[in-house]
Amino acid sequence: MKNFLAHKKVLLGVSASISAYKSLFLLRLLQQAEAEVKVILTPHAAKFIPPLNFELLSHQKVYCDLWQEGNYWSEHVHLANWADLFIIAPCTLNTLSKLANGICDNALLATWFACNATKVVALAMEENMYFNPITQRNLEILKATSTYILEPEDGELASGKIGKGRLAEPETILKKLNYIIAPKPLQGKKVLITAGPTQESIDPVRFISNHSSGKMGIALADTACMLGAEVTLILGPTPMRPNYSYKVYSVVSAEQMYKAVMENYIEQDILILCAAVADYKPLKYSENKIKKNHSQWELSLVKNPDILKALGAIKRPEQLLIGFALETEKGIENATQKLIEKNADMIILNYANYPNSGFSTDTNEVILIQKNIPPTPLPQEKKENVAYQILNYIVDLLN
Ligand code: PMT
Repeated sequence: MKNFLAHKKVLLGVSASISAYKSLFLLRLLQQAEAEVKVILTPHAAKFIPPLNFELLSHQKVYCDLWQEGNYWSEHVHLANWADLFIIAPCTLNTLSKLANGICDNALLATWFACNATKVVALAMEENMYFNPITQRNLEILKATSTYILEPEDGELASGKIGKGRLAEPETILKKLNYIIAPKPLQGKKVLITAGPTQESIDPVRFISNHSSGKMGIALADTACMLGAEVTLILGPTPMRPNYSYKVYSVVSAEQMYKAVMENYIEQDILILCAAVADYKPLKYSENKIKKNHSQWELSLVKNPDILKALGAIKRPEQLLIGFALETEKGIENATQKLIEKNADMIILNYANYPNSGFSTDTNEVILIQKNIPPTPLPQEKKENVAYQILNYIVDLLN
């Protein structure tokens, strides 16, 4: 998952809930994401978690009381101007109600109302409080003022009751903040991505496949989603799962992947084929397990449909078609040939025999191949960062 929180200035507001302990973990996660964090507590939150905890972890002064000794009168305005992002986690019913109705009786609220940064509240309260019509009305008011609401989760509540109301886990909050803060150059665009391997069954226990993990394709899909695209992922058999919520079609064979792509390609603006599709499948599938009676076994194979080529033949002129090329030699030559033969707008070349590159690794090193432009090598980086760079080049092609 590409990290957009690095070097962002984050105000972490904490209101008075039993779940306030989770905000200490959130603070640590934000720091690990290289965000700069300052903390503001409501006076009642300070009864749950002493400010000293936040002070020691954040290495920053913690703000709690408007009348705190040593504060100057406009401290809340300076804090508000400093922030790129303001998250209140946990946000209690009391704080939520004050936010929605302009009540400004503590340092956290004064800073909130003075702040024009991106604003988020992560809710925590008892289920009945959450479903109370006044709470729901207040949530609508906040949404209308462009505040992002991180809904509470289901589970055991402080009262012992099971229901909706738990503060989301810090890891979930971090993921959502990363999504919210990401730029959105792909807003309004539909992007289809294929990822992972395919499996071509020989009999009920054996198949032909390859070493694709799905990491590169999922990194592209997650990042496209963070950049605002409406994503459709056609995913081959892999245990890897997306980090964000978008449409996923799980397929096994090349035939199934071809069908899923053909059913979905028409409305797409961008098609990125990252899957390692098996080029061949067994001529015949055996319903029963083939016995190992012979010292040698010859398997007849037939070609699978070439999805990239098929799309190249039917795509609309304004649709962008991006393919990958996985090579071991003559990379530029082979990738350029694929670019032309398959009528693609870009081929992303990577090598199966480079260290920390290609199949299953967390990093990749790619070269972008386009018509009439010299090949563009990108540095070896984590697949999510490579995905971000590739998508930025695609955004340029759109403009
Ligand atoms: O999944 P990971 O472990 O993260 O690994 C990532 C990756 C190495 C699989 C990925 O970066 C990559 O290179 N994917 C393409 C692999 C491949 O099949 O390359 P190719 O050169 O054989 O195919 C060229 C293009 O045609 C690819 O866009 C492929 O998706 C497409 N193709 C291939 C065969 C086929 N029958 N239909 C296709 O659409």
